[in-house]
Amino acid sequence: EATAAFIAGMPKAELHVHLEGTLEPVQRLEFAERNGVALPQDDVAVYTDLTSFLASYYPNMTVLQTERDFFDLAFAYLTKAAGQNVRHTEMFFDPQAHTSRGIAFATVIAGYHEAVVRAERELDISAQLIMCILRDHSAESAMDTLAESLHYKHWIVGIGLDSDERDNPPSKFARVFARAREEGYLLTMHCDVDQPNSIEHIRQAIEDIGVDRIDHGTNILEDPRLVALARDRGIGLTSCPLSNAVVSDGGKAPEIVELLRAGVKITVNSDDPPYFGGYVTDNLLALAAVTDLSRDELVLLQRNAFEISWISSVDRDAHL
Ligand code: ADE
Ligand code: ZN
Repeated sequence: EATAAFIAGMPKAELHVHLEGTLEPVQRLEFAERNGVALPQDDVAVYTDLTSFLASYYPNMTVLQTERDFFDLAFAYLTKAAGQNVRHTEMFFDPQAHTSRGIAFATVIAGYHEAVVRAERELDISAQLIMCILRDHSAESAMDTLAESLHYKHWIVGIGLDSDERDNPPSKFARVFARAREEGYLLTMHCDVDQPNSIEHIRQAIEDIGVDRIDHGTNILEDPRLVALARDRGIGLTSCPLSNAVVSDGGKAPEIVELLRAGVKITVNSDDPPYFGGYVTDNLLALAAVTDLSRDELVLLQRNAFEISWISSVDRDAHL
């Protein structure tokens, strides 16, 4: 009805979407066929938490082999995003998930970058790439990946941290992120919902690493001091309601609203759309359905997203 049309029509920015997590079942089939690789697993995998999601996510990537595959994957996402009035998007990618199975970094980034260039030309959407470090791999592998990324620094806006958070705190990558900062990258880290030591991981990300944003991070409400720090420093939180509902019983809708009303720059995003049940508009609809968010607050979520985005300030002012 009216709210759905309002949400669909809002100009949006998306800041938390994993390109490898946009792989739709039909693309998976198409890429497997054209590359002559066996389908890694059954169509319908059941996951109930981060670990079981990741156990589907990585095997599915074996269908991604060529530069064309990476291009097609990213361009298909950008087409869907543009169709939902997303005007700017910052997309994570996981190079170690490919280099660890023999696909060159250059193959991955060339395909993704070409999609960014063509989308800006053909789809009226601006896009940037954020390289994620896999936190369940070693700090040495992270440092090697950071070093390799420097050849493509002009194509990468920032560095993130994702994958299995259990026993892999931000502090494990303190040197890697310090180096990334020296190289001029902006910094973000996943602090997934309801992980063991969530609040200590959020504290490390903010106070020890000095991140610019946190991905998820709604457990920050456990420490009012950190909420105040995030608000005062303008550290954005990129939340993902549909993903939260899988990873954490009941989701995090009330927490998202509370943080928004506390003045924290929180935003709504899709994470891994086909895995968790929808793109950014679907996430906003799901959140609106279970909360009393006003239209002004729905707009504020988008305003936050453009404000904490890493679009250049000149371009950003044009969107605001
Ligand atoms: N990789 C892809 N999606 C992720 C998520 N939501 N959390 C951690 N790692 C991820
Ligand atoms: Zn994520």
